[in-house]
Amino acid sequence: MSARLAGLALVALVAAGCATDDGALAEGARYVSDADFREARLAASFVAPENGYSGLRIERYGEQWSALEPWNPPVRAVTEADVGAFVDDPWRPSTAEGGALRPVLGELEWTEEALLALGEQAFERYPVQLADTIGEATASREALDRGGLWVDDRARVGGLVRVRVADGSEHFAVTCATCHARTDDRGRLVHGATNPRFDWGAIAYDRALARGGDPDALAYLLTWGPGQVDVTPDDADNAAAITDLRGVSRHRYLHWAGTIENDLVALALRLETLLITSVQQARRPPREVAFALALYVWRMGEGGAPGDAASEPEGARQFERHCASCHGADGEVPTPRVRIADVGTDPAVGESRTRGTGFYRTPSLWRVVERRQLLHDGSIESLEALLDPARLGDAPGHDWGTQLDPAERAALIRFTRTIGAARGE
Ligand code: HEC
Ligand code: HEC
Repeated sequence: MSARLAGLALVALVAAGCATDDGALAEGARYVSDADFREARLAASFVAPENGYSGLRIERYGEQWSALEPWNPPVRAVTEADVGAFVDDPWRPSTAEGGALRPVLGELEWTEEALLALGEQAFERYPVQLADTIGEATASREALDRGGLWVDDRARVGGLVRVRVADGSEHFAVTCATCHARTDDRGRLVHGATNPRFDWGAIAYDRALARGGDPDALAYLLTWGPGQVDVTPDDADNAAAITDLRGVSRHRYLHWAGTIENDLVALALRLETLLITSVQQARRPPREVAFALALYVWRMGEGGAPGDAASEPEGARQFERHCASCHGADGEVPTPRVRIADVGTDPAVGESRTRGTGFYRTPSLWRVVERRQLLHDGSIESLEALLDPARLGDAPGHDWGTQLDPAERAALIRFTRTIGAARGE
């Protein structure tokens, strides 16, 4: 390319960069106000329209679900002061010390700043699902710990909220932050990082057992394990790992099984429909909230830098040779999905008749260094373990890089850790 043409291309890119920000707000406004637009984009986002997830949405979204009442209930964060306070009467109203309950959505200006602020609020306060089961894990300190619910430096507990419903009673509910946030070493909450200790299965098991349930019949709940949730109503035991959301904007497909072609509007629709199915299709979120959440999640992967080839040249070479055809060192995904048989990991999530497509989506490695569990089932805990050939007997599949000698492997791991990580200072 001549210097002049290269200059022109740069101008065009810069212009496109500006356009996307305004473009995002304009698309969001259209998503909120234009039903035909929403339906068309929803239908276009499904990779396998015949699976259960897609079929349900195609059937119900347009008429049934758009007629639902938007739900913007009064909520407040559950804090340490609430531990043990609702054991006798889980539905009683909060006392004044608990703090006032107020709705997440108030007056809203359609600016990026206001939408991101709303998204951040909604991430930790909008009720995803009423969950009296999980509320029971606030009965004591020990129960919190067993359920893997965090306490942050503002004394908030596990991303749980108290929600007031129409009859005046109050309930516990989970938010995005219950699964998709954890505390750092100073107790500050990090949005988007998976809570690898959250164990819904164990919480549900304890509760059912305490009510006289049959341990054998409940044993399946203990197969989920921390950091996993079985999200598919498909009669198969196929819990999926809670995804680190800092890679989402770089994913070409959403869900481990690659169910949805990803873009900002598809993500808003994915979140809106999640917030409908998680309340038994009785209500829908205000679309402003769904779009604000999508925009907030989309921006989570900002910051950080591509893999540091200058500091780790040998690792960069190994990465280029063995990994870069699928996972870019810049966090992109040149091969965005791979046939399940070619990945070779456990097929149960990918073959789900609810969400499956025949493929596993290639995850972005942006900030992979911060992940505490790897692969769709969280079965691998570290890059060292992923690249160790000794694991292949117990946990087969994804064998790329396992043939390297120890020095090459160590270099590859050092380089991979730099992808998306903050650099310098
Ligand atoms: C109970 C735990 C839980 C809660 C609450 C929850 N999620 Fe998730 N989330 C998961 C699990 C598990 C997956 C993986 C599902 C899959 O890929 O099939 C997931 C996947 C996602 C994905 C797809 C990421 C990708 O790249 O494929 C997005 C986006 C997401 N969640 C956003 C949210 C937001 C925003 C909220 C709040 C409105 C939320 N989630 C609430 C557990 C949860
Ligand atoms: C042919 C494409 C392909 C190649 C080559 C490849 N991967 Fe992957 N990678 C995938 C797919 C697909 C998954 C998801 C598999 C699953 O969840 O079962 C994955 C998952 C991962 C994960 C887990 C990420 C997470 O968030 O759970 C890591 C880490 C990873 N790969 C690193 C590497 C490294 C390092 C290399 C090179 C040694 C490599 N991969 C080579 C396709 C590939």
